[in-house]
Amino acid sequence: MTQERKKQMKIVLQMVSGYGGEFRSWRLPEAKADAYTDMDLYVEMAQLAEKGKIHALFMADTPALTNHLETESPMHSMDPLIAMTAVARATKRIGLVGTFSTTFNEAYNLARHLKTLDVISHGRVGWNAVTTSTSAAAANFGQHLASRQERYGRAHEFIEAVQGLWRSWGEGVYLHDKETGQFADMGQIRPIHYQGTYIQTSGPLPIPPSEQGQPPIFQAGPSPDGIHLAGRFASGVYANPFTIEEAKAYRQMLRAEAEKNGRQADEINVFTGFMFTIADSKEEALARRRQLLEFDQDELAQRLAYLGAMVGLNFQGIDPYQPLPQSWLQLARANPGDPRSPRALEVLKEGYSPIDTLAHGVINYHPVVVGTATDVADFLQEWFEAGASDGFSIVPDLAHDGIKAFVEQVVPLLQDRGLFHQDYEGQTLREHLDLPYQYGRQE
Ligand SMILES: Cc1cc2nc3c(=O)[nH]c(=O)nc-3n(C[C@H](O)[C@H](O)[C@H](O)COP(=O)(O)O)c2cc1C
Repeated sequence: MTQERKKQMKIVLQMVSGYGGEFRSWRLPEAKADAYTDMDLYVEMAQLAEKGKIHALFMADTPALTNHLETESPMHSMDPLIAMTAVARATKRIGLVGTFSTTFNEAYNLARHLKTLDVISHGRVGWNAVTTSTSAAAANFGQHLASRQERYGRAHEFIEAVQGLWRSWGEGVYLHDKETGQFADMGQIRPIHYQGTYIQTSGPLPIPPSEQGQPPIFQAGPSPDGIHLAGRFASGVYANPFTIEEAKAYRQMLRAEAEKNGRQADEINVFTGFMFTIADSKEEALARRRQLLEFDQDELAQRLAYLGAMVGLNFQGIDPYQPLPQSWLQLARANPGDPRSPRALEVLKEGYSPIDTLAHGVINYHPVVVGTATDVADFLQEWFEAGASDGFSIVPDLAHDGIKAFVEQVVPLLQDRGLFHQDYEGQTLREHLDLPYQYGRQE
């Protein structure tokens, strides 16, 4: 591993439901309105991301309906496993990281699905193992949501069991030798008899290793329990800090937790969630986001009220399309209860109207850059060089043109600056992410 390569950022692209991270972007003129069900389009987007050497596609998922489809597109693909399978067959190098809950799955089923996909994709699969804290998901499985302690207790056992099942077929014993008549060495295909409090499974799982051995584990969830789970198992963490300082502290905690669990700090890669709208000028990018806001006037009113609360002002009765008067800005204070407030106040103080401040994405789920490709590259560079993140989990507002803009405009800038690789490091996801081959349980 060269010094230069060590310093390069890793990027995964979030494939949301086929549109992007803005749930009303399906209405933009550039959008394909039925992208949710159009797997050909999904595949095309994945192929484009692969051209841009994006390390992996990343699919979040919750097994429940979690937003209002009257006006918004879904938050997730129809089914991540099936979408990943379709994409795997039409791509060659890009990694495929899917989110699968440890609370609402059975270890044997999931071990089987992921290993099969890992084998047929030639070692390109990763598993984002989340505990899921949505009551609607619990209801879909005839359950009430278990306590955090129980969900994390189950998560530890679940991952141990899955990794055990993956190892239950020994290495080098898939013989399929017509001469000798031996298909496999049964002496090396053994049950695991896993007996936990939450998970019991016998195995063996009759699937040989992939080229990367087995999928690396990702994790998302910032509680101390979440950090402990990541410290034990995760090679990647999907994080959602809003400031560089917050991100650095979180990354340090994760690295320390990895070491506490007998691993190297560098074995954990933090992927900070980041959203963007790219256009030829900042004004053009803002115009697109104003349009997104105006698709739903009721929600716009709610967002304005929330923005007011973020900076300690009451926006009732104001013209939200005009910058705030100086006298108001002097009274404004960032609300310490929301880490996004300082940025909101900063944008208002730059002279943007409340509507344009919202258009900057100041109350989105992740930090947002609205501007040119250079603005996006500058943001990524600043966070990366500050040691805030090992990489990014990027989310375009609209996938259809956003992926293209990132791949064609931002990637070359990052490459010219020596911040992003020129090509994939190898064939497998582990090789792309500089992770060692692993087969079996993380001890
Ligand atoms: C950045 C991020 C992404 C997440 N993505 C998902 C997801 O796709 N599906 C899911 O069921 N839960 C997801 N979660 C929720 C976690 O699974 C977890 O239930 C939640 O964060 C509560 O756990 P915690 O107390 O450790 O934060 C996500 C959490 C974070 C912070």
